[in-house]
Amino acid sequence: MSAQPEPHTAETFPPSADFAAQANATADLYQAAEGDREAFWAGQARDLLDWAQPFTETLDFSGAPVARWFGDGRLNAAYNAVDRHVAAGLGDRVAIHFEGEPGDSQALTYAELQERVSRAANALTELGVATGDRVAIYLPMIPEAVIAMLACARIGAPHSVIFGGFSAEALYSRIVDAEAKVVITADGGYRRGKPSALKPAVDDALAKGTPVEHVLVVERTGQEVSWTEGRDVRWNEALEAASPEHTPVDVEAEHPLFILYTSGTTGKPKGILHTTGGYLTQAAYTHRNVFDLKPESDVYFCTADIGWITGHTYVTYGPLLNGATQVIYEGTPDTPEKDRWWQIVAKYGVTILYTAPTAIRAAMKWGEEFPARNDLSSLRVLGSVGEPINPEAWRWYRRVIGAGTTPVVDTWWQTETGGIMITPLPGVTAAKPGSAQRPLPGVSAEILDDNGQPVPDGGSGYLVLTEPWPGMLRGIWGDMQRFTDTYWSRFPGRYFAGDGARKDNDGDIWVLGRVDDVMNVSGHRLSTAEIESALVSHPAVAEAAVVGATDEDTGQAVVAFVILHGDAGKGETEELMAELRGHVAKEISPIAKPRSIQAVPELPKTRSGKIMRRLLRDLAEGREAGDATTLADTTVMEKIMQGLKR
Ligand code: WT7
Repeated sequence: MSAQPEPHTAETFPPSADFAAQANATADLYQAAEGDREAFWAGQARDLLDWAQPFTETLDFSGAPVARWFGDGRLNAAYNAVDRHVAAGLGDRVAIHFEGEPGDSQALTYAELQERVSRAANALTELGVATGDRVAIYLPMIPEAVIAMLACARIGAPHSVIFGGFSAEALYSRIVDAEAKVVITADGGYRRGKPSALKPAVDDALAKGTPVEHVLVVERTGQEVSWTEGRDVRWNEALEAASPEHTPVDVEAEHPLFILYTSGTTGKPKGILHTTGGYLTQAAYTHRNVFDLKPESDVYFCTADIGWITGHTYVTYGPLLNGATQVIYEGTPDTPEKDRWWQIVAKYGVTILYTAPTAIRAAMKWGEEFPARNDLSSLRVLGSVGEPINPEAWRWYRRVIGAGTTPVVDTWWQTETGGIMITPLPGVTAAKPGSAQRPLPGVSAEILDDNGQPVPDGGSGYLVLTEPWPGMLRGIWGDMQRFTDTYWSRFPGRYFAGDGARKDNDGDIWVLGRVDDVMNVSGHRLSTAEIESALVSHPAVAEAAVVGATDEDTGQAVVAFVILHGDAGKGETEELMAELRGHVAKEISPIAKPRSIQAVPELPKTRSGKIMRRLLRDLAEGREAGDATTLADTTVMEKIMQGLKR
């Protein structure tokens, strides 16, 4: 769903005088960054992180497009996220309030977190993981997910977290691509009121042959799991046997911190590489300023899963670097009832909530009685991320969840950017529903036309980032050519984000959505090519084309068109289509399941054989198909439509 810019006269929501007076970030922050951008970032890196060896160089972009930030400094991510707070006397502060879906809960202080992370780091070392080795993490949203990530960071072993909703197939390809040595998983997790297994997917993935030597298994649900002696190790036993003392390994600022796979325009997911010093600087800086975090008094709740970048930067790293107290919730927002999140807000006195437009739209649909049942008066900042937020949802969020008073920050960023890039500042900006508004201090963005010229106010074009930023990706794991081609070739010297955007008459940015073959379904990024290749891997399918169609609930929905082989589906198309949807879920993930699949006699293609998705999108969205003159066979659209009418 694209947020359409509203008229210039649209209502804005300035911060209250009280909020502005106490805010971490004031208008001065823009001024501070404008003068000397690099010095500004160096200042943030020094103020927000502890360096084992201070850096003297800020940015080296001579190897562009790969940047080096704070290159001669050394530090450890887990030390910064945990140990230094304990050393500062904050060991008794709660780091994580864990709320399990069945209703169990647990509070972990920074001191307890330090002990668990240290034990886990020792356990990994015991299993042969050394600095630089990759570790795959496939866990539900439980404290062990954060502990596992930090344990890897503590020994300098890059983690690759794979979303628990991904299939064995997806898990396998990511494990192999990163050559992971160990997988950390669980028997399962709770979802929608029942245990949902994870270990079988790991067993299936490893059965295909991988470099994995050991599997650490957390016990969460108590489900029965099959066990491979010698390979599988119980997390609890390994941690108990390990020493609670561990010295963090200081790494170079540019040491890889993690790989996170995301969908691109081809069928193969990209392993986005983030390094240590710059990424952590951006995580801490944005978390502190965009959410106005006051670590002594705030209770922060981000609803993202650690399987996504939001979970990396705004569950694991940002909040812990800043010494925050946060809530982690395992399950779905409607289990057991549609007010579960609001119950959590009331129970823990949550002050800052960060979630996605798709969840806000679902809550709108469920009705105001669910939030109304709970005391939400503790909330003081609301955030949105993942897709454009339609102004109606924005207003509802502020009015119903935020008592009509809290700032709402619509934060634009990507897996690749590492942290928030374009957003209002809650104590400064007069917010405009539906607009991400301005680049953060220290960030430089532009909207360019087809010729690479900045568009004037009121114009629209392609969103680019014009200067390097500390949290920027350092490449695609194992494929640096693709890194250059994907992001840096469309507008040489500038980073092309893949999004279209508009600048309104005030110069505020409205992100309109992807302009490439990437879809955004409920804030999850999916590739048309990846789903197409899953469909054609089914014996009944000869060819497939997938488009993202506008959807009221999920922003976009996956709509597929397939050409079936010979007799496939004759007479029983419904069943076959259900089977194909299940096949996509199995090959990729249930989140990639097409909303609908249509069998068609042909697909619209240009003379060079490229599928014209634009025409299929017209059909999927119930419009008359647009200009079809560049098709190799101009009668194709007619044939398709006749077939659909029948
Ligand atoms: C894509 C990145 C950022 C963490 C979650 C998604 C879209 C993200 C917004 C926003 C409009 C947004 C863009 C972007 N997107 N936030 N506030 N307004 N669009 O990360 O999976 O890497 O997806 O999500 O299209 O390119 P991701």
